[in-house]
Amino acid sequence: MGTIRTHYLIRRGRVLSLLSLILACIVSNSHEETIRRNQFPVEFLFGTSTSAYQTEGAILEGGRGLSNWDVFSHVPGKIETGENADTADDHYHLYLQDIDLMHSLGINAYRFSISWARILPRGRFGDVNPTGIAFYNSIIDNLLRRGIEPFVTLYHHDLPQELEDRYGGWLSPLIQEDFGYFAEICFRRFGDRVKYWSSLNEPNLYAHFAYLRGMYPPGRRSEMEPFTVLHNMLLSHARAAYLYRSRYQQKQGGSIGIVVNTAMYEPLRDEAVDREAVSRALAFYVSGVLDPLIHGDYPPEMRHHLGARLPKFSVEESKALNGSIDFIGINHYSSLYAKDCINSPCPTGESHAFLGFVYTTGFRDGVAIGEPTPMPRFFIVPDGLEKMVEYIKTRYNNKPTFVTENGIAQLDQPGQREVLLHDNKRVEFLKGYLASLARAIRNGADVRGYFVWSLMDNFEWTNGFRMRFGLYYVDYQTLERTPKLSAKWYRDFLTPNATDEYDDLLVKRSRVANWRGVEVDI
Ligand SMILES: *[C@@H]1O[C@H](CO)[C@@H](O)[C@H](O)[C@H]1NC(C)=O
Ligand SMILES: *[C@@H]1O[C@H](CO)[C@@H](O)[C@H](O)[C@H]1NC(C)=O
Repeated sequence: MGTIRTHYLIRRGRVLSLLSLILACIVSNSHEETIRRNQFPVEFLFGTSTSAYQTEGAILEGGRGLSNWDVFSHVPGKIETGENADTADDHYHLYLQDIDLMHSLGINAYRFSISWARILPRGRFGDVNPTGIAFYNSIIDNLLRRGIEPFVTLYHHDLPQELEDRYGGWLSPLIQEDFGYFAEICFRRFGDRVKYWSSLNEPNLYAHFAYLRGMYPPGRRSEMEPFTVLHNMLLSHARAAYLYRSRYQQKQGGSIGIVVNTAMYEPLRDEAVDREAVSRALAFYVSGVLDPLIHGDYPPEMRHHLGARLPKFSVEESKALNGSIDFIGINHYSSLYAKDCINSPCPTGESHAFLGFVYTTGFRDGVAIGEPTPMPRFFIVPDGLEKMVEYIKTRYNNKPTFVTENGIAQLDQPGQREVLLHDNKRVEFLKGYLASLARAIRNGADVRGYFVWSLMDNFEWTNGFRMRFGLYYVDYQTLERTPKLSAKWYRDFLTPNATDEYDDLLVKRSRVANWRGVEVDI
């Protein structure tokens, strides 16, 4: 009996020391990867990001007009889940509570968009809606009251339907005058308090998804329309920037930029043609937006491959575009492999002029480029952010840059609320991407802010409510918001001394469990 007991004690001792060894490894690893607020400049903006259509709801309230998305999402088959954003997060009614959530996170900036149809229900063909103006005034005032900088997008995929019906929306040059009209109202009414304006969110993704893939309204599938749309979007930006700079900027002291969708690319094969495909994909998709706004014309790479098919800017237009942004916003989620489609064959229907005749995929020989996520083309590749920032820094002479979106989705699982609240994967994602961003900054990149997509779960376009990107979980029945583990992590990250506490939590689970009643399994 004595022997057995001794044996047991020895074994138990070994198990314990093995456990503490593992624990020590976890702790020292996590220590190595620890990302701290003080690795970023003091004045750095740390925020969360949302957009109007994805969160506001109340589509028929407060004098709002219908948008392209209201109409599109009600067409059967357009949204995978058959859902729409008629109510969404009901942020229209719950915005004060949401601003309190932001305050509790400790963020110093909030990126949101203004619903065009809430300000101008009929575009410039009708009156300004005073209830819409009052709504955004209240958001802005309440943010500032809590020390949160409003970072405002004018167009985040939602257009007054009237402009689509009247002249085909972004396909027509008439949109430039409408966008300028809308932008000027926002500068005049909100610009005394808003210091960061983004004209357009992801014109490249919008042109691609709405006019090539048919996934976003107006749901068209064309090889050349995306170029027309991008052209009109760029000129619309130039119009807004001209109005801002000539009439408001000096007095109001703010800045205007644009937000571009980015993926980083790696060559599918270690071959010259695929390395060129990487350069071409970046030149067409990212620089196709930024070159015109910084240098006054499309990238030479696009001119070279497209010739006369590429729309041309007049001398006047080129002047208006040239140097028309004060900062670059990048939305970044993932890296993809790039395969050349000019010198070698690609899967049918996968060589598009708009995307630079490059086929992109997350897989090489069946192996993913990074850990897969529920979004089919989003993989976890933290280094991609550093590389993307480096590309921007090099090509645009280190222009001030903001990471305006970065985040990861969870697939909704009915009845799995507790599981979704324990989003360790999102915490690891944020740590990895922030560490990558910190490296880019250490290497001299002038990055001035970072926004997590998203503050809370919301309507993820064609995916409906299935993809949950939020730091806060939203119960779409009760509209209750509940902080996920990642909200806690972000809060602690932003409150320097609390970060140490988080590392302790890796071994002291019970302390996390007590946090607002959330059970955590690390
Ligand atoms: C853009 O502006 C720069 C400097 O102001 C100038 O050197 C360049 O030629 C302009 N580009 C175009 C296409 O007008
Ligand atoms: C943070 O920690 C440092 C060192 O432990 C301490 O001096 C400082 O007072 C703490 N700050 C806050 C806000 O708790």
